[in-house]
Amino acid sequence: MPWNRRHLLTVEDLSIAEIDQIHATAAVFKKQLQHSVKKLPALRGKTIVNFFLEPSTRTRMAFEMAAKRLSADVVSLDAASSSTQKGETLRDTAQNIQALNADLIVIRHSASGSPLYLSRILNIPVINAGDGSHEHPTQGLLDTFTMKEHLGSLAGRKVVILGDILFSRVARSNIHALTKMGAAVTLVGPSTLVPDWFTDFGVTVAHDLKTALADAEVVMLLRIQHERQAASHFPSLGEYTGMFGLNKTRASWLNPKAIIMHPGPINRGVEIDSDLADGSRSVILEQVSNGIAIRMAALYLCSGGQPELVEAG
Ligand code: CP
Repeated sequence: MPWNRRHLLTVEDLSIAEIDQIHATAAVFKKQLQHSVKKLPALRGKTIVNFFLEPSTRTRMAFEMAAKRLSADVVSLDAASSSTQKGETLRDTAQNIQALNADLIVIRHSASGSPLYLSRILNIPVINAGDGSHEHPTQGLLDTFTMKEHLGSLAGRKVVILGDILFSRVARSNIHALTKMGAAVTLVGPSTLVPDWFTDFGVTVAHDLKTALADAEVVMLLRIQHERQAASHFPSLGEYTGMFGLNKTRASWLNPKAIIMHPGPINRGVEIDSDLADGSRSVILEQVSNGIAIRMAALYLCSGGQPELVEAG
């Protein structure tokens, strides 16, 4: 099946076939980089602009490394150094980036829907690197890619996402990817951060940690997204950790082979104890590494590349 999508805005938009194509393309890139050259020629002559209006370590660096490994030129622009500080609108800034001959724009923005808006006013592909609490599609794709590497098919697998679901774009992208892939998803945390209406997404909502974690094959921790919370959603961080932080005792309730995930950044000692984050069941740094291959796949496919041509290099 050919790849026909120009923009990568949400996982919700993607079919299961498209998710499989991104994963398969990323797997080929990962293998090629492990076994042969450090750089592939696929995007030689293209210019990718990373436009990040919110802080980022992993996503921004992974997009930059992915673009460079595909031989593209990369230009990065952030909030502090862009003329948005002088009152320029998102529309004007984006149209100027396009006028400067960018071939693709990767955007992170605090406002949900910003990437969709840009996709409607620009003539170049747009990739969402996280928009408000809406979606973070490449994170959901790299997380499910990592799960598949450990578990094989995700159909019927119990995956628990624990923490601040309400404000998490990572949770939403994972929920869409996992439910399309047939996983049994449980969301758990305080009812203020895991409201019951999330059941509309085809998942189970739970507030009792022991029941939720029982026999889970994957647990994904999420930090508290203070930057999006106008009011407090629990009495104190200490009380949150006391009730919902993952520690050794609580991790023993998981399936013995369960993997522990976190999209980062981690707040050690709040949502997860350090010995678990650094322990043998943690795949947190594998998620980060897989972020390069997934972003290579996203850049390649949205630039007009076809999955079946990747192997030819
Ligand atoms: N997971 C994630 O989006 O991390 P950054 O905010 O560091 O990019």
